[in-house]
Amino acid sequence: MGRTLDHLFDQNVAWAHRKTRDDPDFFRRMAEQQTPNYLWIGCSDSRVTANDVLGLDPGAVFVHRNIANIVHTSDLNILSVLEFAVDYLQVEHVIVCGHYACGGVRRALVAERGAMLDHWLQPLTMLYRKHRAVFDGIADESTRLDRLCEVNIEMQVRRLAATPIIENAWARGQKLHLHGWIYAIHDGLIRDLGPHLSSVEERDALPSIDQRVLQPVEPQSAVRRQALAAFSGINLPEEMPGDICEKGLTYRREQQE
Ligand code: CO
Repeated sequence: MGRTLDHLFDQNVAWAHRKTRDDPDFFRRMAEQQTPNYLWIGCSDSRVTANDVLGLDPGAVFVHRNIANIVHTSDLNILSVLEFAVDYLQVEHVIVCGHYACGGVRRALVAERGAMLDHWLQPLTMLYRKHRAVFDGIADESTRLDRLCEVNIEMQVRRLAATPIIENAWARGQKLHLHGWIYAIHDGLIRDLGPHLSSVEERDALPSIDQRVLQPVEPQSAVRRQALAAFSGINLPEEMPGDICEKGLTYRREQQE
């Protein structure tokens, strides 16, 4: 491979050509102005690209990524992105989306110290150490890591909700929703983890993050949410004989007829 990375330029030309062929006005539209409705705060992991996993074109999502999707309230980078997204672009949704099996989060679980990354991960490391008995009580290593990935997202949404940028937006009545999501690299699906916050009151009503460590919430994929919606409103007998899913579908069919 040469030092000029010509193959990437070639791919870029091919991509721009494809885009123009499929939608002749695409780049003209892009050049006018960006009006994304979402701010994505995600991990730098090369497999978790906001536009791709959301199926969105350029222009639809404003993106900030760092290792382990940490919200440091003294990080000029994330605060500038947040201010621009909330105050100028007026995005309606801010999404903290982490992912399972996150290498950054894994680092918080090891005893080794000294890398710059360890400074970066400090809030997460502290949380892990505080609740070491709970996390280390999870025998399976990957389950333990995934659990910490989930708690990390919850913690970052709370930190986001405590920034003056978000507080001010809510105080002036701006419609702004914060979301905590987790992406699974093994199946390509995003799961809704929460918390979902739209006001200071909702933020202040949350149980503490320590309580969340002890009582985890179950992340829900769209597939599972649809399944639950399909079952809601159906009066199932208290004792569910046989296969619940099979029965539920039968009841649903009977109800529709
Ligand atoms: Co990661």
